[in-house]
Amino acid sequence: MSAVKEIYELGETIELGAVPEKMHAFLVRQDRFGEPRDAWKREVIPTPKIGPKDVLVYVMASGINYNNVWAALGYPVDVIADRQKKGEPEDFHAGGSDCSGIVWKVGDQVGDWKVGDEVVVHSGWWEPDDPWVLSGKDPMLAPSTRIWGYQTNYGSYCQFSRAQSHQLKSKPKHLTWEQSGCYMLCASTAYRMLMGWQPNIIEKNDVVLVWGAAGGLGSLALQITRACGGRAIAVISDEEKRQFCLDHGAVGVINRKDFNHWGQMPNTNSPEYGPWIKGARSFGKAIWEILGERVNPRIVFEHPGESTLPTSGFICDTGGMIVICAGTTGYNITMDLRYHWMMQKRFQGSHLSNDDQAAAVNQLIIEKKVDPCLSETYSFDQIGHAHQLMHENKHPYGNMACLVNATEKNQGAR
Ligand SMILES: NC(=O)c1ccc[n+]([C@@H]2O[C@H](COP(=O)([O-])OP(=O)(O)OC[C@H]3O[C@@H](n4cnc5c(N)ncnc54)[C@H](OP(=O)(O)O)[C@@H]3O)[C@@H](O)[C@H]2O)c1
Repeated sequence: MSAVKEIYELGETIELGAVPEKMHAFLVRQDRFGEPRDAWKREVIPTPKIGPKDVLVYVMASGINYNNVWAALGYPVDVIADRQKKGEPEDFHAGGSDCSGIVWKVGDQVGDWKVGDEVVVHSGWWEPDDPWVLSGKDPMLAPSTRIWGYQTNYGSYCQFSRAQSHQLKSKPKHLTWEQSGCYMLCASTAYRMLMGWQPNIIEKNDVVLVWGAAGGLGSLALQITRACGGRAIAVISDEEKRQFCLDHGAVGVINRKDFNHWGQMPNTNSPEYGPWIKGARSFGKAIWEILGERVNPRIVFEHPGESTLPTSGFICDTGGMIVICAGTTGYNITMDLRYHWMMQKRFQGSHLSNDDQAAAVNQLIIEKKVDPCLSETYSFDQIGHAHQLMHENKHPYGNMACLVNATEKNQGAR
């Protein structure tokens, strides 16, 4: 191997497996918590060392996800302080929870991947010796579980990222670096929400209501629903997103701007309750009109939270499930409990995915049953800008990516 330089510029030729001492990375620091465009900055930091079950990935492209909007804001969690409390020394957050790249170095105990393999990375991270994980139970419920690139450092906005070997899946060969780098976090989360909570998983013809259907999670939820035999109803706020949803598996689309009963549910004894329940009923009727029959959603795919949950709880079918992975519009949720217990509905929290669920959805992508829905690709130096767009809900449909070591778009597909 020829001499390894101390640092390489992005895209500069590096011999396969050669690890420089330093690397370029996009970081957040505590003294610049705030608007993502200012919080994320490019810096040079030491290349991370890997443990026996880890891999070092030469990152080609990375996805942009909402979690690193939260990391930039330092809200609701200061991820840097949180890690320092656990004994980690770094005073920065080198984030990024979606990645396509090349395996560059493997730990002593890694047998399933080798240097040169082309991979994508899912962001479920846990201590390898966690007794819960070793017992064979769902690792996403283990005490040590964290979100890679959000709750762990050295994620995919780094030239070289550190991951655990179980997080790797094969890169779909037909996709470019940016297409394959943009989907895994949202795809695996959506898959667990829709197929991970027995017995409330999609069965043939089941109706699934998908909030934010043209967004990162939503665009994948539509397609997973179609691939699993269900009927997805998409919710949007802008008519320009309608056709996109129909093209990606929705059987019909509702524009939430046609209703105005959003936000926390009023007290059931107050005069405001009447107009609220009227709004919720007319939203339910809009679903029946699309379907041409009086059928309610068996699964409600939730993430806006505070603003939409009262409606989700009301329109969900008897014995159905409202499954939720976020509270983008607020955490103080309300719901009319009478409909919840009488109709025996389920309210299920869901977070990211385990290895099996990530593998299952990756297979749907490999089989071209689900498309990553890449909308825009940005350069490495536009990482802050892309997070700002997401923060302001001004980003286009689907998922965004940024190039890291890939120097141009449209590379990496075979
Ligand atoms: N726990 C997990 O594992 C996990 C994983 C992935 C994402 N998430 C979280 O899930 C959320 C969505 O992520 P994403 O990547 O899909 O984001 P995204 O691409 O920004 O999509 C969010 C969608 O929400 C909709 N929305 C915005 N304001 C709304 C409101 N007031 N009422 C109803 N819908 C509204 C928007 O669609 P319209 O304006 O067209 O309705 C938007 O397309 C984020 O909070 C993210 O952190 C959690």
